[in-house]
Amino acid sequence: MERVLQPLLLFFIMYCMMALSNAQEILQNPDFEIPPYNITTNSSTTHLTKENPIPGWSFKGTVSYVTSGANLSFPGSGGAHAVQLGENGTISQTIRARGLMEYVLSFNLIPQSEDCANNRTAVNVSVHGKYDYSHRSKVFSLGRNLSMNLWGSYAFFLGRLAAESLNLHITSVSTTKAKDANNNVTCWPIVDAFTVRKNRLPMWEYENRLANGDFEIGPAFLKNSSDGILLDEE
Ligand SMILES: *[C@@H]1O[C@H](CO)[C@@H](O)[C@H](O)[C@H]1NC(C)=O
Ligand SMILES: *[C@@H]1O[C@H](CO)[C@@H](O)[C@H](O)[C@H]1NC(C)=O
Ligand SMILES: *[C@@H]1O[C@H](CO)[C@@H](O)[C@H](O)[C@H]1NC(C)=O
Ligand SMILES: *[C@@H]1O[C@H](CO)[C@@H](O)[C@H](O)[C@H]1NC(C)=O
Ligand SMILES: *[C@@H]1O[C@H](CO)[C@@H](O)[C@H](O)[C@H]1NC(C)=O
Ligand SMILES: *[C@@H]1O[C@H](CO)[C@@H](O)[C@H](O)[C@H]1NC(C)=O
Ligand SMILES: *[C@@H]1O[C@H](CO)[C@@H](O)[C@H](O)[C@H]1NC(C)=O
Ligand SMILES: *[C@@H]1O[C@H](CO)[C@@H](O)[C@H](O)[C@H]1NC(C)=O
Ligand SMILES: *[C@@H]1O[C@H](CO)[C@@H](O)[C@H](O)[C@H]1NC(C)=O
Repeated sequence: MERVLQPLLLFFIMYCMMALSNAQEILQNPDFEIPPYNITTNSSTTHLTKENPIPGWSFKGTVSYVTSGANLSFPGSGGAHAVQLGENGTISQTIRARGLMEYVLSFNLIPQSEDCANNRTAVNVSVHGKYDYSHRSKVFSLGRNLSMNLWGSYAFFLGRLAAESLNLHITSVSTTKAKDANNNVTCWPIVDAFTVRKNRLPMWEYENRLANGDFEIGPAFLKNSSDGILLDEE
């Protein structure tokens, strides 16, 4: 029995390690389920500080680690934790690409409250690489009534990358306040469930280099998401 189990176990462990290293290769702590360092309370909002950074990411400005609960509701696919980008808030991470592939990022954008779902929650996603052509950015704004949920899942084309590093930045966009005084809150975006999908280049492109659109192959669908992804025009 042992002799049968051991190779199986070994195989299983190797499989797990491969899966783990494969996941770690692209983004670390992509859904913020690893909490900030040195936190001692269970509060639903924790401001990140120098002593309380979040593993995998660097940050600037006002950034909070938030937990879903009575006042905040997240898509279950991203776990119970997310990050809210406040004033001048940015989170960043370096993406190391390997092998010539097309890289597509997807993520969830969540409003802080229902009032903030109506074009009032936005983030600026950008990538910076060694070469000018790899600089790209796009502002994603949460519309309303596109789906039954308050939040949306969005996709951003990172680029066609070989062996290179890109810096990914997610920055809060301060949205205009509502006209009416009783809805006069600044809406800060919440982001979660970052996923990078690598797509093989379509074979025919080796022959026809002119035909190279951005989205030949779709982005990753988020775990358990039944909504799919809102694709913005590029
Ligand atoms: C946080 O909550 C968990 C589970 O509810 C509990 O076990 C833990 O003691 C709490 N920690 C603090 C610091 O309150
Ligand atoms: C956690 O706190 C300790 C003591 O306050 C500090 O030395 C350490 O650098 C902190 N960890 C991180 C990752 O900042
Ligand atoms: C949740 O909302 C209630 C009522 O709006 C408020 O009293 C409470 O402080 C909020 N809790 C958190 C953790 O923000
Ligand atoms: C995904 O869906 C399955 C089945 O519906 C459920 O058991 C599981 O807990 C879900 N996972 C997450 C992360 O929501
Ligand atoms: C955010 O940035 C603006 C412009 O750089 C600056 O005036 C403001 O003080 C900053 N706010 C915070 C909270 O750092
Ligand atoms: C939201 O933005 C869209 C596109 O810019 C616009 O057509 C729509 O009227 C806006 N809705 C609200 C409530 O501002
Ligand atoms: C988004 O970020 C990029 C890169 O930092 C910047 O060039 C661009 O102006 C920003 N767009 C908006 C609307 O803030
Ligand atoms: C969204 O749709 C619902 C029902 O169709 C409607 O009652 C609600 O006013 C809409 N919300 C916005 C912000 O347009
Ligand atoms: C919204 O609030 C700000 C500061 O809290 C205030 O300066 C501004 O006049 C308010 N706007 C409206 C339309 O009430």
